[in-house]
Amino acid sequence: MSDSEDDVPQLSADTLAALQQFYAESGRTGHRRDSNPTDKFSVGAMEEDWHMSQFWYNEETATQLAEEVLQQAGTDGRIACVSAPSVYQKLKQLESERPDSTSAVLLEFDRRFAAFGDEFIFYDYNNPLCLHEDILPQSFDIVIVDPPYLSEECLSKVALTVKYLTKGKILLCTGSIMEEHAGKLMDLKMCSFLPKHSHNLANEFRCYINYESSLL
Ligand SMILES: C[S@@+](CC[C@H](N)C(=O)[O-])C[C@H]1O[C@@H](n2cnc3c(N)ncnc32)[C@H](O)[C@@H]1O
Repeated sequence: MSDSEDDVPQLSADTLAALQQFYAESGRTGHRRDSNPTDKFSVGAMEEDWHMSQFWYNEETATQLAEEVLQQAGTDGRIACVSAPSVYQKLKQLESERPDSTSAVLLEFDRRFAAFGDEFIFYDYNNPLCLHEDILPQSFDIVIVDPPYLSEECLSKVALTVKYLTKGKILLCTGSIMEEHAGKLMDLKMCSFLPKHSHNLANEFRCYINYESSLL
């Protein structure tokens, strides 16, 4: 596993200092104190764990990405969120407002998300094709993925998973430094859309896709 400091998305210095002070004062519980603990589908309901390279999107980005995958999946489409719990949470929030029956699953390493029930599928990118037997090849209309590390080693393993899952469409969110690898490994093009996080990151983040979209 490659998780050297250079590979991990970094918080900006100001954000890191403010957060360290907050956690020192409040103690860490694993759940955010300012969220309703019963609302597990709120973006950020689970506290970020930086040891797992967790950096959640802000509300606006989670909503934009969820709306994008809903549109691309089509009526009654199937969506796989890989290492992207905020998008899965936002999809669940939007579910009640939608007439069709689009479905979504979350493939995630952090077992706290097992609280989502059957739609949580344990996933470790180090074993990219070690997936639950119910997960059939090319069974998702779109796969959205935000890998934990900014390294070729991580992205090349994640690419194996994504190609197994998708019928074709891929939406990758990762650092801008990964552009060449995203193109080489999955034939993805960088979008002008800039994903934003709830805490400022020092690394520039981007989206990459392999289909026509207004995100480009
Ligand atoms: C950079 S974050 C992406 C989260 C996304 N920005 C969001 O808000 O949903 C990386 C994600 O990879 C997950 N992760 C950490 N280690 C992993 C592993 N070994 N295999 C797969 N995913 C992992 C983290 O739990 C986290 O959800």
